[in-house]
Amino acid sequence: MSTKPDDQPWTVGRILTWTTDYLKKSGAPNPRLDAEVLLAHSLRKSRIQLYTMYDTVLEDASRATMRDLVKRRANHEPVAYLVGHKEFFSLEFEVNKAVLIPRPETELLVMHAIEIARQFYASASVDILDLCTGSGCIAVAIATTLKQANLTAIDISPDALEVAKRNAARHKLESRVEFLQSDLFGSLPADRKFHVLVTNPPYIVEADMATLEPNVKNHEPHLALNGGPDGMTFITPILERAPQHLHPDGWLLMEFTPELQPSIQSVLDRLGCYRETQWIKDLSGQIRHLRTRLSQ
Ligand SMILES: C[S@@+](CC[C@H](N)C(=O)[O-])C[C@H]1O[C@@H](n2cnc3c(N)ncnc32)[C@H](O)[C@@H]1O
Repeated sequence: MSTKPDDQPWTVGRILTWTTDYLKKSGAPNPRLDAEVLLAHSLRKSRIQLYTMYDTVLEDASRATMRDLVKRRANHEPVAYLVGHKEFFSLEFEVNKAVLIPRPETELLVMHAIEIARQFYASASVDILDLCTGSGCIAVAIATTLKQANLTAIDISPDALEVAKRNAARHKLESRVEFLQSDLFGSLPADRKFHVLVTNPPYIVEADMATLEPNVKNHEPHLALNGGPDGMTFITPILERAPQHLHPDGWLLMEFTPELQPSIQSVLDRLGCYRETQWIKDLSGQIRHLRTRLSQ
């Protein structure tokens, strides 16, 4: 999409070809898909509609929008931030740079929370805490599926909570999802208890932050990623303090990076207050989630 005058018009088809080639050279893993998503966004059309518009010539304004998006994508900015939304659990979520982009593996954590609520709390209303909520994707996905669930969603970041609140409103869940700005459990009343606690806390070992892909390292919030020197800065206090905020027999579900499993196991051994511990593998066969239950 050079700015120099040329004789060939910039049609949808030509822009897609040019952008795919340009993004491929910049190292984008899915250049054609990115090109289509970004062009559809610039034209306010669906991707499918592009297929019927190959010969349409872009207006200057759409072309300028597309040029800006392509430049940012070539600089590894994630497509979800560029278009402002991401699908999770078959639901649409607003995302911006204040929140982590929801990951597909986290859908499995949501499925376990739903399964536990259905199996153990089917006849009653169930109180669920989503600690470190970010975009609110976990709380909103659970509340959408479980009509008897009341969710509390906590994050330390006011900007993330604003996004999460808009996501709850977008899915008409304001009355069943309560938001709280808090440093972990810090602002919860001491006697506030839940049946299920779900959490996807920051867990990247600090020294590994530099090795993350540029799309993550340079664009996603470090507050959402950095788990401190051993990756356990948030996980350990969550495991230590969860018993105070769980009903007897309550459940804890947590996402983490597979390398942390031994450290998590030793915290569980030291605490000795959890039972029925299961380590859940993701679709690539890596241990990704902890499912455990309070021993009383
Ligand atoms: C890995 S992200 C998870 C976001 C979302 N739950 C998801 O699964 O996509 C971790 C979140 O924890 C929040 N966070 C970081 N430190 C925190 C703290 N001390 N207390 C509460 N939330 C915190 C970050 O702002 C971020 O939104």
